Amino acid sequence: MFSTFLTASLALLSLVSFPQAQAAQIDVVVGGPGVLKFNPQFVTANVGDKVVFSFRQKNHTATQSTLANPCTKSPGGFDSGFVPVAATNTGGPFPAAEFSIKNTDPVWVFCAQAGHCSSGMVFAINPPPGQFDQFEAAAKSGTSPTSAPAAAASSPAGSTDHKVVVGGPAGLVYSPNNIKAQPGDTVTFEFRQKNHTATQSTFANPCKSLSSTSTTGQVGFDSGFVPVAADATTFPTWTVRINDTTPIWVYCRQGNHCGQGMVLAVNSVDSGPNSFDAFVAKAKSNGTSAAAAPTTSPTKNGASSWNRGLSNGLVLAVAGVIAGLTL
Ligand SMILES: *[C@@H]1O[C@H](CO)[C@@H](O)[C@H](O)[C@H]1NC(C)=O
Ligand SMILES: *[C@@H]1O[C@H](CO)[C@@H](O)[C@H](O)[C@H]1NC(C)=O
Ligand SMILES: *[C@@H]1O[C@H](CO)[C@@H](O)[C@H](O)[C@H]1NC(C)=O
Ligand SMILES: *[C@@H]1O[C@H](CO)[C@@H](O)[C@H](O)[C@H]1NC(C)=O
Repeated sequence: MFSTFLTASLALLSLVSFPQAQAAQIDVVVGGPGVLKFNPQFVTANVGDKVVFSFRQKNHTATQSTLANPCTKSPGGFDSGFVPVAATNTGGPFPAAEFSIKNTDPVWVFCAQAGHCSSGMVFAINPPPGQFDQFEAAAKSGTSPTSAPAAAASSPAGSTDHKVVVGGPAGLVYSPNNIKAQPGDTVTFEFRQKNHTATQSTFANPCKSLSSTSTTGQVGFDSGFVPVAADATTFPTWTVRINDTTPIWVYCRQGNHCGQGMVLAVNSVDSGPNSFDAFVAKAKSNGTSAAAAPTTSPTKNGASSWNRGLSNGLVLAVAGVIAGLTL
């Protein structure tokens, strides 16, 4: 009885909305018992295809973001909204949201439920080769370039956002450059004039990216180059979440800025061989040789993508429940 209804619905759907004979429906399962994933994690789709998100247990979304901001809804992007599915609903039917593919540009998607994106609950349609891994790593890294108001709005109650001015009239410095932060706090870099980065390094190698020196595959954060015009009056920002009190070391990858002392620490110790002063001294003595740091950013999130929405022509065809559609 139910399957008859389902068949009838699908027949109707294909009658009204499959102009191309080869148009395909691509099913994506969202969540499930104990699962914080889209399955599959990415798909290849042709113009005219439909991607159907089938929402499973817990309470997830399918929300469009960008490669540069994996966990932030892109302006004008699609958003299913929260779709709660009871733990007792094990057999369906499950609510679904359907997206029609209008072009083959990459589409980046995340779950907007608290903590899910940073756990890697992300998805992509037509990601360029290699870029899905970048997207997933950026989502998990806890870094997110975002506008200052959005950062403030998304900070959990009780946490502090530590603002750092990068460059500008003050010269080759982060102001302030030696921060103490609690887990849950955020550090927001506000990029001023010139063309700087905020790139995670290590105490041992102040002027080299963590990603390029790690022997254990750590992916440090990297804002990418952020050029700011001399006459700019609004300044791009980049926010990093602090998870613990382990010292975090940061430098600017531009030219020999690091060798001139353009470094920053979060939760460094005040004295001894691993102090902030020792870090600065090390950067200055070792900076020149490191000026040619990685030519390609270890993580993506390059400056070119900042504040740029994704307009890909996709529309949310149906948001919410399509009763009777099981996948
Ligand atoms: C689903 O999650 C959203 C966001 O956390 C929340 O506002 C909403 O109440 C949740 N719905 C249910 C039924 O749990
Ligand atoms: C914050 O936590 C995430 C995991 O949630 C981790 O991958 C990331 O490295 C942390 N951020 C920083 C700045 O270390
Ligand atoms: C910013 O600096 C990087 C690295 O030196 C360079 O590749 C890029 O072209 C610069 N951007 C601008 C707008 O000057
Ligand atoms: C320069 O860096 C190397 C590692 O790249 C380190 O062994 C050396 O001690 C550093 N020099 C100074 C003066 O800190």
